[in-house]
Amino acid sequence: VTAEKAGFDHFMLKEVYDQPKAYRDTMGARIDASGTKVLLPEVGMTREQIADIRNVHIIACGTAFHAGLVGKSVIETLVRIPVEADVASEYRYRSPIITPQTLVIVVSQSGETADTLAALREAKRNGARVLAITNVVGSSIAREADDVIVTWAGPEIAVASTKAYTSQLIAFFLLGLYLAQTLEKVEAGYVKEVLAAMQELPKQVEQVLAQADSIREVAEQIAKHHNLFFIGRGLDFATALEGSLKLKEISYIHSEAYAAGELKHGTLALIEDGIPVIALATQEVLFEKTVSNIKEVKARGAQVYGIHMEGNDELSKVVDETFAIPQTHQLLAPALSVIPLQLLSYYASLALGHDVDKPRNLAKSVTVE
Ligand code: G6P
Repeated sequence: VTAEKAGFDHFMLKEVYDQPKAYRDTMGARIDASGTKVLLPEVGMTREQIADIRNVHIIACGTAFHAGLVGKSVIETLVRIPVEADVASEYRYRSPIITPQTLVIVVSQSGETADTLAALREAKRNGARVLAITNVVGSSIAREADDVIVTWAGPEIAVASTKAYTSQLIAFFLLGLYLAQTLEKVEAGYVKEVLAAMQELPKQVEQVLAQADSIREVAEQIAKHHNLFFIGRGLDFATALEGSLKLKEISYIHSEAYAAGELKHGTLALIEDGIPVIALATQEVLFEKTVSNIKEVKARGAQVYGIHMEGNDELSKVVDETFAIPQTHQLLAPALSVIPLQLLSYYASLALGHDVDKPRNLAKSVTVE
């Protein structure tokens, strides 16, 4: 291992702070100089082959699966092709409908996860084209896939994935735009607008990181609890799932991520006085709906920490504390809103005295099924 902690106390923290560079490197030469087009020569499909895709399956495990959930939204929104996202260990055994017109996208930081590799092979056996999004050039998954988009996050050492996850998000934004632009599903002006917003992300991540101290304070409060909830709708739900997983992985605090609108169908029974709820409300069209779900938990005594986009201060009227991420395009919000959640897990784990980089019972790469 040549990677060093570069002065940080843990690899995880270093990797969180590596993210602006990881975003820049993953976008790199994939956005043309005029900022109007995505270039993905590593996707070897012709325009005809892309036009022939009838459905997309995204397969991954753990954190990479959560990137896949964002990828599903991005591709469906931009390309208007049906996308299913599955965890690899379920995919193979549910007899998925795979045809030669299915594009299978496997997402794996290590490129060695046994379940994901087995799903890739199953997809290929059924004649699908397989595109891999991976952080390791030359990994098994990279070698066996037809097309490979490398996330240039650099080596990720901490078991809890941070920069690999967000680089996977960047890869999905690029891929979604690329497919949409190839099939002319979106206006050139729209592509330009999203690309311009993408290029702002590295600087905006730095702005979020600059507020680490205030997140640390919240983390120290949360570390006193045994249960909490993450809620959100749409893309915010995917981020809630990732935030909850991260916290469980390294702090061992139990949390649940819930689609905010689904709370009233059962989970609301678990909201009791003082329970922390992290509420994500970055999606404009869903904002009012999320606010009404927040009011439901507030009414039952929850301590609510809200994450919203700058310029929309409405949330501060209904929650106990807010954290603002810089303004970005709606689709790109997960690449910013997950950053405070990574720091939250890190500082909660630290406050509880756990081994942040090597949590109990978990491995960086799981090569058994
Ligand atoms: C392990 C790690 C997780 C990771 C998952 C998938 O369970 O502990 O952090 O998300 O594997 O790994 P991959 O390398 O396929 O992305």
